[in-house]
Amino acid sequence: MECFNINIITSKGMLPVRLGIKGGRMASFSTIGAADVKPSLALIPSVIDMHVHFRDFDQRNKETVASGSKAALAGGISAVCDMPNTIPPVADKKTYLRRQDLFSKDSVCDYLINFCVFDEYSMSQAASVDPFFIKVYLDETTGSYILDEALLEKVFMLQKPIALHADHSGMRKAIKFSKKYSTPLHICHVSTKDEVMLIGKHKDNNITCEVTPHHLFLSGIYDVKPALCTKNDRDALWAALGGVIDIVASDHAPHTSDEKEKGAYGVSGIEAMLPLMLTALNRGQISYETFYRCMHANQKRILHARGRDFGMDGGSRADFTIVDFGDSYTIDAKNFYSKAKHSPFDGMSVDAKVVETWVRGMPFFKDGEVVSGARGKEIGRK
Ligand code: NCD
Ligand code: ZN
Repeated sequence: MECFNINIITSKGMLPVRLGIKGGRMASFSTIGAADVKPSLALIPSVIDMHVHFRDFDQRNKETVASGSKAALAGGISAVCDMPNTIPPVADKKTYLRRQDLFSKDSVCDYLINFCVFDEYSMSQAASVDPFFIKVYLDETTGSYILDEALLEKVFMLQKPIALHADHSGMRKAIKFSKKYSTPLHICHVSTKDEVMLIGKHKDNNITCEVTPHHLFLSGIYDVKPALCTKNDRDALWAALGGVIDIVASDHAPHTSDEKEKGAYGVSGIEAMLPLMLTALNRGQISYETFYRCMHANQKRILHARGRDFGMDGGSRADFTIVDFGDSYTIDAKNFYSKAKHSPFDGMSVDAKVVETWVRGMPFFKDGEVVSGARGKEIGRK
């Protein structure tokens, strides 16, 4: 058994503990004195990024599964949930199996794979696959896989979990169908106060939602969908974090610098998310309780609701990230591991640096590099 002492981030604050890891799982856990841990280091249990675009297939110039998963580990993320608006889209069984195969060969972090429904054919194919989410786009964005709203109800009738990209009116319709068919609905990148109010009014156990760091931290002009909003909207997003808004997800949407200059939508965000949220925690902008919920506990709840093995307590998977609050730095996209080396967060200072990312009891990222032998796996059913 491998044992070490560290401060662990909990919903109530830092807790100095001695951890024991065996066979990829947490084997023992005991509290110790504060004098027995290095004060600046902290451990965050299992961070999964529930919304990433790793491109690949025909857009390897933007990002590959290899480069995106490496960027994930560098950002302290032990697992990702991959979005299907690739070229070709993950919208038929054959392409879904091809995506699984590609990830199993090239991903250095663990993963979940989504499926896109945008027409009658992809809908008929959805029944024969077991994705984490069926992604439904009702609004314009990268790729043209927009579902005709007339087909929306039929997708909910499949009763498979849906991740939704929509504006206010699309959200309203989806919420109605989620309730009618008891279909789990995850609303992506909530960005306005009105959306928070709408979701807050109708939320039940089947309805979850996410916010991105760029919608929390930034206003102004940047090419991204949904658009950045006002300070008033952002205040509502922060206030809803860990409550109406379940989780933070990066919506890592890499493009080449050329394409970005021509207005492609998306933020290269996977490496900035955790340092930014740790900074909000360190500066008292959010409580430990909120941080713990929106960066770990609610992701765990969502995965467990779908029968997936996740989380590191009580003999579960030893996935975690070690960060150093003694190592503040300025975000510089030139240093990203992602192929997309541009960021609206450039120049922002953050209070903590990712030191190590562990997956299933092994350090996969350490000393600024992916450890040899790091190999991602699909997060399976329990
Ligand atoms: C995403 C992309 O480029 O794939 N772009 C974005 O601006 N968020 C698509 C999306 O999530 O809408
Ligand atoms: Zn997205």
